[in-house]
Amino acid sequence: LINLSLLLLKILMWNRKHLLDIDAFSRDDIENLIGLAGRLEPFSGIDKSKKFKPLGLCRGQIMTLWFEPGKENSTRTFGSFPAAMMRLGGSCKVFDETTSSMMKGESLEDTTRILSGHSDVIVDRHRDAGHVYTVASVSSVPVINAGNGSAQHPTQTLLDLYTMVKKFGRIEGLKVAVVGDLKFGRTVHSLVKGLEKFGVHATGICPQGLEMPGEFRTSGYEERIIDMNDTGQALSELKPDVVYATRIQAERFSGNSEKYNYVINKKVLSMLPKNAAIMHPLPRISELSREIDSDERSVYFH
Ligand code: CP
Repeated sequence: LINLSLLLLKILMWNRKHLLDIDAFSRDDIENLIGLAGRLEPFSGIDKSKKFKPLGLCRGQIMTLWFEPGKENSTRTFGSFPAAMMRLGGSCKVFDETTSSMMKGESLEDTTRILSGHSDVIVDRHRDAGHVYTVASVSSVPVINAGNGSAQHPTQTLLDLYTMVKKFGRIEGLKVAVVGDLKFGRTVHSLVKGLEKFGVHATGICPQGLEMPGEFRTSGYEERIIDMNDTGQALSELKPDVVYATRIQAERFSGNSEKYNYVINKKVLSMLPKNAAIMHPLPRISELSREIDSDERSVYFH
Protein backbone atom coordinates (compact mmCIF):
# COMPACT_ATOMS: atom_id res chain seq x y z
CA LEU A 1 0.00 0.00 0.00
CA ILE A 2 2.85 2.37 0.75
CA ASN A 3 4.33 1.61 -2.67
CA LEU A 4 0.97 2.19 -4.30
CA SER A 5 0.50 5.46 -2.45
CA LEU A 6 3.94 6.64 -3.54
CA LEU A 7 3.14 5.75 -7.11
CA LEU A 8 -0.16 7.62 -6.92
CA LEU A 9 1.58 10.61 -5.42
CA LYS A 10 4.03 10.53 -8.30
CA ILE A 11 1.12 10.65 -10.74
CA LEU A 12 -0.63 13.43 -8.81
CA MET A 13 2.55 15.50 -8.70
CA TRP A 14 2.84 15.09 -12.43
CA ASN A 15 2.78 18.70 -13.52
CA ARG A 16 -0.17 18.50 -15.86
CA LYS A 17 -3.32 19.54 -14.10
CA HIS A 18 -5.88 18.25 -16.55
CA LEU A 19 -6.21 15.14 -18.70
CA LEU A 20 -7.58 16.56 -21.95
CA ASP A 21 -5.98 14.62 -24.78
CA ILE A 22 -3.42 11.89 -25.37
CA ASP A 23 -0.97 14.42 -26.83
CA ALA A 24 -0.14 15.62 -23.31
CA PHE A 25 1.35 12.24 -22.34
CA SER A 26 4.92 11.19 -22.97
CA ARG A 27 5.80 7.54 -23.39
CA ASP A 28 7.19 7.60 -19.83
CA ASP A 29 3.90 8.99 -18.48
CA ILE A 30 1.96 6.21 -20.20
CA GLU A 31 4.35 3.53 -18.98
CA ASN A 32 4.04 4.87 -15.43
CA LEU A 33 0.25 4.80 -15.64
CA ILE A 34 0.22 1.29 -17.12
CA GLY A 35 2.48 0.18 -14.28
CA LEU A 36 0.20 1.81 -11.72
CA ALA A 37 -2.91 0.29 -13.32
CA GLY A 38 -1.31 -3.14 -13.14
CA ARG A 39 -0.70 -2.71 -9.43
CA LEU A 40 -4.20 -1.39 -8.78
CA GLU A 41 -6.01 -4.01 -10.86
CA PRO A 42 -6.17 -6.57 -8.00
CA PHE A 43 -8.09 -3.93 -6.02
CA SER A 44 -10.54 -3.17 -8.82
CA GLY A 45 -13.18 -5.59 -7.61
CA ILE A 46 -13.27 -7.43 -10.95
CA ASP A 47 -12.24 -10.69 -9.31
CA LYS A 48 -15.46 -11.58 -7.44
CA SER A 49 -13.81 -14.47 -5.64
CA LYS A 50 -11.82 -11.99 -3.56
CA LYS A 51 -13.31 -9.95 -0.75
CA PHE A 52 -13.19 -6.31 -1.72
CA LYS A 53 -11.84 -3.62 0.56
CA PRO A 54 -11.69 0.05 -0.59
CA LEU A 55 -8.14 1.32 -0.90
CA GLY A 56 -8.74 4.72 0.64
CA LEU A 57 -6.34 6.50 -1.73
CA CYS A 58 -9.11 8.97 -2.65
CA ARG A 59 -10.88 9.05 0.71
CA GLY A 60 -12.80 12.31 1.16
CA GLN A 61 -12.51 13.25 -2.53
CA ILE A 62 -15.56 14.02 -4.67
CA MET A 63 -15.79 13.39 -8.40
CA THR A 64 -18.35 15.23 -10.52
CA LEU A 65 -19.57 13.44 -13.63
CA TRP A 66 -20.59 15.92 -16.31
CA PHE A 67 -22.00 13.93 -19.24
CA GLU A 68 -24.10 15.80 -21.77
CA PRO A 69 -27.57 14.31 -21.38
CA GLY A 70 -29.18 12.60 -24.34
CA LYS A 71 -26.37 13.36 -26.81
CA GLU A 72 -23.38 11.51 -25.46
CA ASN A 73 -24.84 8.42 -23.87
CA SER A 74 -22.43 6.11 -22.13
CA THR A 75 -22.33 2.77 -20.36
CA ARG A 76 -18.63 2.04 -19.80
CA THR A 77 -17.25 5.49 -19.10
CA PHE A 78 -20.19 6.72 -17.06
CA GLY A 79 -20.04 3.53 -15.03
CA SER A 80 -16.30 2.93 -14.69
CA PHE A 81 -15.26 6.37 -13.44
CA PRO A 82 -17.54 6.30 -10.38
CA ALA A 83 -16.77 2.61 -9.80
CA ALA A 84 -13.04 3.40 -9.75
CA MET A 85 -13.55 6.42 -7.51
CA MET A 86 -15.60 4.40 -5.04
CA ARG A 87 -13.10 1.52 -5.12
CA LEU A 88 -10.47 4.10 -4.14
CA GLY A 89 -12.60 5.31 -1.24
CA GLY A 90 -13.95 8.51 -2.81
CA SER A 91 -17.47 9.47 -3.85
CA CYS A 92 -19.26 10.83 -6.91
CA LYS A 93 -22.07 13.10 -7.95
CA VAL A 94 -23.74 13.55 -11.31
CA PHE A 95 -24.26 16.98 -12.80
CA ASP A 96 -27.23 17.09 -15.19
CA GLU A 97 -27.44 20.24 -17.29
CA THR A 98 -31.16 19.75 -17.93
CA THR A 99 -32.03 20.10 -14.24
CA SER A 100 -29.45 22.80 -13.55
CA SER A 101 -29.51 26.58 -13.66
CA MET A 102 -27.96 26.40 -17.12
CA MET A 103 -31.61 26.05 -18.16
CA LYS A 104 -32.14 29.54 -16.70
CA GLY A 105 -29.26 30.90 -18.75
CA GLU A 106 -26.27 30.44 -16.45
CA SER A 107 -23.09 30.35 -18.53
CA LEU A 108 -20.79 27.36 -18.98
CA GLU A 109 -17.99 29.28 -17.28
CA ASP A 110 -20.01 30.23 -14.19
CA THR A 111 -21.41 26.71 -13.95
CA THR A 112 -17.86 25.32 -14.01
CA ARG A 113 -16.69 27.74 -11.30
CA ILE A 114 -19.47 26.53 -9.01
CA LEU A 115 -19.04 22.83 -9.80
CA SER A 116 -15.30 22.94 -9.26
CA GLY A 117 -15.96 24.46 -5.86
CA HIS A 118 -17.99 21.36 -4.97
CA SER A 119 -15.59 18.82 -6.42
CA ASP A 120 -12.02 17.55 -6.42
CA VAL A 121 -12.12 16.35 -10.02
CA ILE A 122 -14.53 16.80 -12.95
CA VAL A 123 -15.05 14.13 -15.61
CA ASP A 124 -16.50 15.62 -18.78
CA ARG A 125 -18.11 14.09 -21.87
CA HIS A 126 -19.72 16.38 -24.39
CA ARG A 127 -20.65 16.35 -28.04
CA ASP A 128 -18.93 19.74 -28.50
CA ALA A 129 -15.22 18.92 -28.72
CA GLY A 130 -14.33 22.31 -27.23
CA HIS A 131 -16.49 21.92 -24.11
CA VAL A 132 -13.87 20.10 -22.03
CA TYR A 133 -11.23 22.72 -22.89
CA THR A 134 -13.51 25.55 -21.79
CA VAL A 135 -14.34 23.71 -18.57
CA ALA A 136 -10.62 23.12 -17.94
CA SER A 137 -9.80 26.78 -18.57
CA VAL A 138 -12.10 27.88 -15.74
CA SER A 139 -12.08 24.93 -13.34
CA SER A 140 -10.11 25.18 -10.12
CA VAL A 141 -9.79 21.37 -10.02
CA PRO A 142 -8.46 18.81 -12.53
CA VAL A 143 -10.69 18.01 -15.50
CA ILE A 144 -10.64 14.65 -17.29
CA ASN A 145 -11.81 14.30 -20.88
CA ALA A 146 -14.14 11.29 -21.03
CA GLY A 147 -14.76 11.72 -24.79
CA ASN A 148 -15.15 15.03 -26.60
CA GLY A 149 -17.43 14.72 -29.62
CA SER A 150 -15.63 13.00 -32.47
CA ALA A 151 -12.22 14.30 -31.38
CA GLN A 152 -10.50 12.14 -28.73
CA HIS A 153 -11.08 9.66 -25.90
CA PRO A 154 -7.74 9.65 -24.06
CA THR A 155 -8.71 7.48 -21.11
CA GLN A 156 -10.01 4.80 -23.50
CA THR A 157 -6.58 4.90 -25.15
CA LEU A 158 -4.83 4.39 -21.81
CA LEU A 159 -7.05 1.34 -21.27
CA ASP A 160 -6.40 0.08 -24.81
CA LEU A 161 -2.63 0.39 -24.39
CA TYR A 162 -2.89 -1.39 -21.04
CA THR A 163 -4.85 -4.21 -22.72
CA MET A 164 -2.12 -4.57 -25.36
CA VAL A 165 0.57 -4.76 -22.69
CA LYS A 166 -1.43 -7.42 -20.84
CA LYS A 167 -1.92 -9.48 -23.99
CA PHE A 168 1.52 -9.09 -25.62
CA GLY A 169 3.77 -7.84 -22.80
CA ARG A 170 4.71 -4.81 -24.90
CA ILE A 171 3.42 -2.18 -27.31
CA GLU A 172 6.51 -1.50 -29.42
CA GLY A 173 6.81 -3.72 -32.45
CA LEU A 174 3.09 -4.52 -32.65
CA LYS A 175 1.31 -4.28 -35.98
CA VAL A 176 -2.03 -2.55 -35.38
CA ALA A 177 -4.95 -2.18 -37.80
CA VAL A 178 -7.70 0.30 -36.93
CA VAL A 179 -10.88 -0.59 -38.77
CA GLY A 180 -14.24 1.01 -39.51
CA ASP A 181 -15.28 4.58 -38.83
CA LEU A 182 -11.97 6.41 -38.67
CA LYS A 183 -13.57 9.79 -39.27
CA PHE A 184 -15.93 10.06 -36.32
CA GLY A 185 -14.51 7.33 -34.05
CA ARG A 186 -12.74 9.33 -31.34
CA THR A 187 -11.13 6.29 -29.76
CA VAL A 188 -9.02 5.60 -32.85
CA HIS A 189 -7.92 9.24 -33.03
CA SER A 190 -6.38 9.03 -29.56
CA LEU A 191 -5.12 5.50 -30.10
CA VAL A 192 -3.18 6.24 -33.29
CA LYS A 193 -1.45 9.13 -31.53
CA GLY A 194 -0.80 7.07 -28.41
CA LEU A 195 0.70 4.20 -30.41
CA GLU A 196 3.08 6.53 -32.19
CA LYS A 197 4.75 7.33 -28.86
CA PHE A 198 5.84 3.67 -28.85
CA GLY A 199 7.02 3.77 -32.46
CA VAL A 200 3.93 1.91 -33.68
CA HIS A 201 2.45 3.26 -36.91
CA ALA A 202 -1.13 2.07 -37.23
CA THR A 203 -2.72 1.15 -40.54
CA GLY A 204 -6.27 2.36 -41.13
CA ILE A 205 -8.82 0.20 -42.98
CA CYS A 206 -11.99 2.09 -43.79
CA PRO A 207 -14.60 2.82 -46.44
CA GLN A 208 -14.41 5.89 -48.64
CA GLY A 209 -16.04 8.75 -46.73
CA LEU A 210 -14.88 7.61 -43.27
CA GLU A 211 -11.15 8.30 -43.57
CA MET A 212 -9.02 9.51 -40.66
CA PRO A 213 -9.03 13.35 -40.47
CA GLY A 214 -5.68 14.98 -41.18
CA GLU A 215 -5.23 16.33 -37.64
CA PHE A 216 -5.11 12.78 -36.20
CA ARG A 217 -2.80 11.25 -38.80
CA THR A 218 0.65 10.58 -37.43
CA SER A 219 3.76 10.62 -39.60
CA GLY A 220 3.87 6.86 -40.20
CA TYR A 221 0.12 6.32 -40.46
CA GLU A 222 -1.09 4.56 -43.60
CA GLU A 223 -4.63 4.00 -44.77
CA ARG A 224 -6.34 1.51 -47.06
CA ILE A 225 -9.71 2.55 -48.40
CA ILE A 226 -11.68 -0.58 -49.19
CA ASP A 227 -15.13 -1.95 -49.84
CA MET A 228 -15.91 -3.09 -46.29
CA ASN A 229 -17.14 -6.43 -47.64
CA ASP A 230 -13.43 -7.08 -48.25
CA THR A 231 -12.38 -6.43 -44.63
CA GLY A 232 -11.25 -10.05 -44.18
CA GLN A 233 -9.11 -9.94 -47.31
CA ALA A 234 -7.48 -6.63 -46.27
CA LEU A 235 -6.71 -7.98 -42.80
CA SER A 236 -5.35 -11.26 -44.15
CA GLU A 237 -2.89 -9.29 -46.31
CA LEU A 238 -1.85 -7.07 -43.40
CA LYS A 239 -1.60 -9.84 -40.76
CA PRO A 240 -1.91 -7.46 -37.79
CA ASP A 241 -1.25 -8.41 -34.17
CA VAL A 242 -4.13 -6.14 -33.14
CA VAL A 243 -7.37 -5.55 -35.00
CA TYR A 244 -9.00 -2.52 -33.40
CA ALA A 245 -12.55 -2.42 -34.75
CA THR A 246 -14.90 0.54 -34.33
CA ARG A 247 -18.60 1.08 -34.60
CA ILE A 248 -19.96 3.20 -37.45
CA GLN A 249 -20.92 6.33 -35.50
CA ALA A 250 -24.32 6.71 -37.17
CA GLU A 251 -25.40 9.40 -34.72
CA ARG A 252 -22.65 11.74 -35.97
CA PHE A 253 -23.72 12.05 -39.59
CA SER A 254 -26.84 12.38 -41.67
CA GLY A 255 -27.73 10.05 -44.51
CA ASN A 256 -27.42 6.34 -44.94
CA SER A 257 -24.88 4.88 -42.52
CA GLU A 258 -25.76 1.26 -43.32
CA LYS A 259 -23.72 1.34 -46.53
CA TYR A 260 -20.60 1.42 -44.30
CA ASN A 261 -21.52 -1.67 -42.29
CA TYR A 262 -19.00 -4.51 -42.00
CA VAL A 263 -18.58 -7.57 -39.86
CA ILE A 264 -15.71 -9.44 -38.25
CA ASN A 265 -16.93 -13.01 -38.01
CA LYS A 266 -15.42 -16.49 -37.81
CA LYS A 267 -14.51 -16.40 -41.49
CA VAL A 268 -12.52 -13.17 -41.02
CA LEU A 269 -10.93 -14.55 -37.87
CA SER A 270 -9.78 -17.64 -39.77
CA MET A 271 -7.61 -15.33 -41.91
CA LEU A 272 -5.89 -13.72 -38.90
CA PRO A 273 -2.75 -14.76 -36.99
CA LYS A 274 -3.35 -17.30 -34.21
CA ASN A 275 -2.10 -14.89 -31.53
CA ALA A 276 -3.91 -11.76 -32.77
CA ALA A 277 -6.07 -9.62 -30.48
CA ILE A 278 -9.49 -8.38 -31.54
CA MET A 279 -10.20 -5.16 -29.71
CA HIS A 280 -13.14 -2.72 -29.78
CA PRO A 281 -13.96 0.17 -27.45
CA LEU A 282 -17.64 -0.92 -27.43
CA PRO A 283 -20.55 -0.60 -27.73
CA ARG A 284 -20.61 -2.91 -30.73
CA ILE A 285 -23.60 -3.00 -33.03
CA SER A 286 -23.14 -5.54 -35.83
CA GLU A 287 -19.43 -5.22 -36.64
CA LEU A 288 -18.37 -7.97 -34.22
CA SER A 289 -20.32 -11.14 -34.79
CA ARG A 290 -21.42 -12.81 -31.52
CA GLU A 291 -19.93 -16.02 -32.89
CA ILE A 292 -16.40 -14.72 -32.21
CA ASP A 293 -17.01 -13.80 -28.55
CA SER A 294 -15.68 -17.11 -27.29
CA ASP A 295 -12.52 -17.01 -29.43
CA GLU A 296 -9.50 -16.42 -27.20
CA ARG A 297 -8.34 -13.67 -29.56
CA SER A 298 -11.44 -11.61 -28.68
CA VAL A 299 -10.37 -9.35 -25.81
CA TYR A 300 -12.97 -6.60 -26.07
CA PHE A 301 -14.69 -7.63 -22.83
CA HIS A 302 -11.45 -7.93 -20.87
N1 CP B 1 -15.88 2.88 -24.69
C1 CP B 1 -16.77 3.81 -24.31
O1 CP B 1 -16.45 5.00 -24.18
O2 CP B 1 -18.02 3.35 -24.09
P1 CP B 1 -19.25 4.22 -23.56
O3 CP B 1 -19.60 5.20 -24.66
O4 CP B 1 -20.35 3.25 -23.27
O5 CP B 1 -18.79 4.96 -22.35
